[in-house]
Amino acid sequence: MTDTTTSVPQKGPAAESPYLPRIAELAVVEALTEREKYFRVRLRGGSPFEYVPGQFVQVWVYGYGEVPISICSSPTRVDADFEMCVREVGRVTGALHRLQAGQTVGIRGPFGNGWPLETLRGQDVLFVAGGLGLAPARGAIQHVLDNRSDFGKVTILYGARTPKELLFRRDLKEWEERSDVDFLLTVDRADESWTGHTGVITTLFEKISIAPQTTYAVIVGPPVMFKFTVLEVLSAGLPEHRILCSLERHMKCGLGKCGHCQVGKVYVCQDGPVFTYEQVRRLREGI
Ligand SMILES: Cc1cc2nc3c(=O)[nH]c(=O)nc-3n(C[C@H](O)[C@H](O)[C@H](O)COP(=O)(O)OP(=O)(O)OC[C@H]3O[C@@H](n4cnc5c(N)ncnc54)[C@H](O)[C@@H]3O)c2cc1C
Ligand code: FES
Repeated sequence: MTDTTTSVPQKGPAAESPYLPRIAELAVVEALTEREKYFRVRLRGGSPFEYVPGQFVQVWVYGYGEVPISICSSPTRVDADFEMCVREVGRVTGALHRLQAGQTVGIRGPFGNGWPLETLRGQDVLFVAGGLGLAPARGAIQHVLDNRSDFGKVTILYGARTPKELLFRRDLKEWEERSDVDFLLTVDRADESWTGHTGVITTLFEKISIAPQTTYAVIVGPPVMFKFTVLEVLSAGLPEHRILCSLERHMKCGLGKCGHCQVGKVYVCQDGPVFTYEQVRRLREGI
């Protein structure tokens, strides 16, 4: 009789295929708002997970499918684990929201380039995040704050539609309390609990100053917020190559093979998702 336990390859090309998800446990699951949940993810068997903030993973929910999700943490905070913030919008994200701590998902990746942290080193950094845009920006913010002396002036602007939609309240408190960060928060529409600034995120720009030759702006948020924020930083004199953003496209493989994420000659899953505004403008213009 054949000994099947020894005939199954434990390692090899199939086991290492980038198309095969690795099993991971949801170590912590917490509701952040009515629509978003926080997940702390741990690969089974203690496998290390190396990544750069701004990269993304493909999350496989068994029986439902796979979705691209940004890694929202920095390795400076969570050693072997990584974190995600997921908005429930449909079939797969809905199934992910129904999972509890201790249950498993499949993880492929990390994919993409991530934020150019070495380029930011020694520079002033202006983070502008709108709504769920805080998720891809958060890992870079953590990296900068955990290596604070490597950077110049750090400014964080964050806006949500209403107070109830503010994400990562513990982080917001930390940024508020730090004396080495200029942190400004706004909501589009206040409720009875809100005593802070009200107005779209661009209304915060009159409260800050930008040194255009030494600042990089990291801008992530919905298209309308991105458009008007870019106009603000351009009018402050920031060159296009100093404006960084993270693009979202429908994705399948994450490996530059299927073409789902292709814009012109660029595969967003591999060449991005982080691009300079100069690159994004050229892509739009087909240059
Ligand atoms: C690089 C990258 C990083 C992402 N990071 C995050 C993250 O950190 N947190 C998070 O919550 N979401 C993130 N997304 C979006 C997430 O992948 C989609 O919300 C998800 O694929 C929807 O799948 P679903 O099966 O739940 O929804 P579906 O049932 O497929 O669709 C429901 C609705 O969501 C829309 N939708 C589907 N895919 C996308 C997409 N890629 N972008 C925008 N809308 C979409 C559909 O058009 C439809 O209106 C990211 C997407 C990309 C490409
Ligand atoms: S997702 Fe397949 S090529 Fe980018």
